[in-house]
Amino acid sequence: MRTATTQMRFFQRIVKGETMGLKIFFDGKLVNKEEAVVSVFDHGLLYGDGVFEGIRSYGSLVFKLSEHIDRLFESAHTLMLKIPMTKVEMSKAVIETLQANNLSDAYIRLVVTRGVGDLGLDPRKCKVATVFIIADKIALYPKEYYERGLTLATVPTVRNHPEALNPQLKTLNYLNNILAKIEATNAGVDEAILLNTQGYVTECTGENIFFVKGRALVTPPPYVGILKGITRDAVMKLGAEAGLHVREDVFTRHDLYTADEVFLTGTAAEIVPIAKIDNRVIGEGKPGRTTLRLMKAFRTITTMEGTRYDLPAVTRSGK
Ligand SMILES: Cc1ncc(COP(=O)(O)O)c(C=O)c1O
Repeated sequence: MRTATTQMRFFQRIVKGETMGLKIFFDGKLVNKEEAVVSVFDHGLLYGDGVFEGIRSYGSLVFKLSEHIDRLFESAHTLMLKIPMTKVEMSKAVIETLQANNLSDAYIRLVVTRGVGDLGLDPRKCKVATVFIIADKIALYPKEYYERGLTLATVPTVRNHPEALNPQLKTLNYLNNILAKIEATNAGVDEAILLNTQGYVTECTGENIFFVKGRALVTPPPYVGILKGITRDAVMKLGAEAGLHVREDVFTRHDLYTADEVFLTGTAAEIVPIAKIDNRVIGEGKPGRTTLRLMKAFRTITTMEGTRYDLPAVTRSGK
């Protein structure tokens, strides 16, 4: 039985919302967020040795779940990182995490690290990968971003060379992107454009980039050094369905400055219009007609396509 004091403390914790904490999928089971703790010897922490995915669910539909799981396994394959679960188990774990947290609209972070090793780099010392999944309420970008359009600047840090750390791998080593983000903030703009070592446009710190010129919809090809975004793929399909001439092409900042419209795509940001780049006004300096049309079409597919799951949650113990 609880004493009056422990009962009072328990009550205070409920009032503060502490007992309503998140459930995290951590190494095969759902645990309270406080119990989801990674060792200081985990190579994900020591060396950024690991892979991750960011996924979204809309109205109890996980958008492009199998595409995200495939990309996770492909990144891990190139790193020779063995994920101790099958793709089916991983998909089930994502759904269970959403259900355990009773989330219908969520941002899901899936992380696989090399696991616990010693202080050396050798990944062979890490016997089992650490796997965790966090599902939380989606923190939406401010509405005005979509209404006024973002400002961008090209930054001095160049995108990782594909023969060094290929941007097609979604690894835990995001310092290239973080340095670019710092430079964008220092320049007083919302987001950074990274060029590659040859001066061609690659992408932003967490989004792919597109421009519209007449009926053409253009985005850089993966070999210039980009993450092959899943939203990017979806938008290329939507563009083709809308009758645009969609193509992957190498291009320079000049092509962006002189485009009719520019927008970014990503799981978290969805489609976000661009108003200015390096102080040049893009098009009319506000979200363009094609961008707005694609934003609407994208919103429609997120309400219709995806892996459906049921709520309210049934916890693993069945209580
Ligand atoms: C560097 C980078 N580029 C592009 C994207 C957009 O990819 P996706 O549409 O799959 O979220 C992301 C986000 O995952 C990213 O981190």
